Amino acid sequence: MYKIVIEGGRPLVGEVTLSGAKNAALPILASTLLTNGVTVLTNVPDLSDVRTMGRLLQLMGAEVTGRGTIKVDSRGIHAFEAPYELVKTMRASVLVLGPMVARFGRARVSLPGGCAIGTRPIDLHLDGLKAMGAQVDLRQGYVEARCKRLHGADLVLRQPTVTGTENLMMAACLAKGRTTIENAAREPEVEELARVLNKMGAVVRGAGTSYIVIEGVDDLHPVEHAVIPDRIEGGTFMVAAVVTGGDILVTNALPEHCDAMIQKLRASGADIQAETGGLRVRGTGAIAPLDISTAPFPGFPTDMQAQFMVLATQAVGPSVITETIFENRFMHVSELCRMGADIEVRGKTAIVHGEPGGLQGATVMATDLRASASLILAGLVAKGTTEVLRVYHLDRGYEAIEKKLTPLGAAIWRVRADGP
Ligand code: UD1
Repeated sequence: MYKIVIEGGRPLVGEVTLSGAKNAALPILASTLLTNGVTVLTNVPDLSDVRTMGRLLQLMGAEVTGRGTIKVDSRGIHAFEAPYELVKTMRASVLVLGPMVARFGRARVSLPGGCAIGTRPIDLHLDGLKAMGAQVDLRQGYVEARCKRLHGADLVLRQPTVTGTENLMMAACLAKGRTTIENAAREPEVEELARVLNKMGAVVRGAGTSYIVIEGVDDLHPVEHAVIPDRIEGGTFMVAAVVTGGDILVTNALPEHCDAMIQKLRASGADIQAETGGLRVRGTGAIAPLDISTAPFPGFPTDMQAQFMVLATQAVGPSVITETIFENRFMHVSELCRMGADIEVRGKTAIVHGEPGGLQGATVMATDLRASASLILAGLVAKGTTEVLRVYHLDRGYEAIEKKLTPLGAAIWRVRADGP
């Protein structure tokens, strides 16, 4: 078990390169189940969630090799189950459901169950598969889905679910006929998955908008593909620049993926310029209070809410942050308060009474992936030493964050810790 130790109070200056996007790599890895052959993926982030997806594919009979560049040979698939032991550590395991049913006509996937940031049901994934002709039963904590061949359907999502849209889009690629998905998630990772599926020979139009049309085909072939940069990792480094009064060039950030974050950072007083191949982000002194409400893309990402809360703790005056996507996603609040932050939570809204320079180092506990990133940011700006425990949450989604922060001038170390 490891912990991260940070001596705070240093402005971060320099250049950083983003890793591939976790939330794009996971569905793309799952999509290899739709093919019969060797897919080669580059710019895959080296993260525990990616290794979990790799293990899952291996359990099903795929050969998965490499780090960074990953080869998946899907020719040996012979098992159709995602066991509880893996699904409980990573909800995105459910992404194998759609491809398995579409290609093999059967799948048995453990229900993810509750998680730290809320109940997170998968009813929309299941309703969509049923509408496409799958028989779906829940038995002993598992979803069991079967069909001869899925058929196209007109699907309307009650809510724009990201992995739900991805699951149904993948399933529809091998269904007979046309599928439409209304109120689809518009996240760049959905668009990226569609790009890969189309390379494989699928016919997907409209991904990246709220209306996706998929014409089913009989089979898909393996591809080579480089994964897009991680916009959430990018946003985290942008906040790191502003909150420490630093100056960071995020060399491969895609500005069109970061619009909502850029707007909020500019409103806080930060200077952000698009430079060739990246974004330069500078803190300019006093931070203005924030007014943020999370929303599906292109709105402000829930995955950046905790990090922006740290920025709000350094603002001059009260900020209002509303979480509309997940219940129970304020677990970082109590830890930030232990570092001296003044935050009141009223239902879905947190009121952050900012005080520049008001955070002090403390020993804090990471509770989920993005909450742990917020504690790292808080440690970078706090006076004194911060220790962040349970960094396995961080390792699910940030590749070697301490190794990327050190060259920017951060005093940060990963050290062995006793206990959890
Ligand atoms: C994905 C991202 C996660 C991000 C989230 C929201 C991946 C691997 N994970 O998670 O990082 O925080 O999008 O941007 O891409 N819902 C239902 N029924 C369903 C599915 C979802 O009610 O069947 C609800 C959820 O409870 C939630 C909302 O829809 O309130 C959005 O969740 P969803 O987009 O599905 O999140 P994930 O795809 O799990």
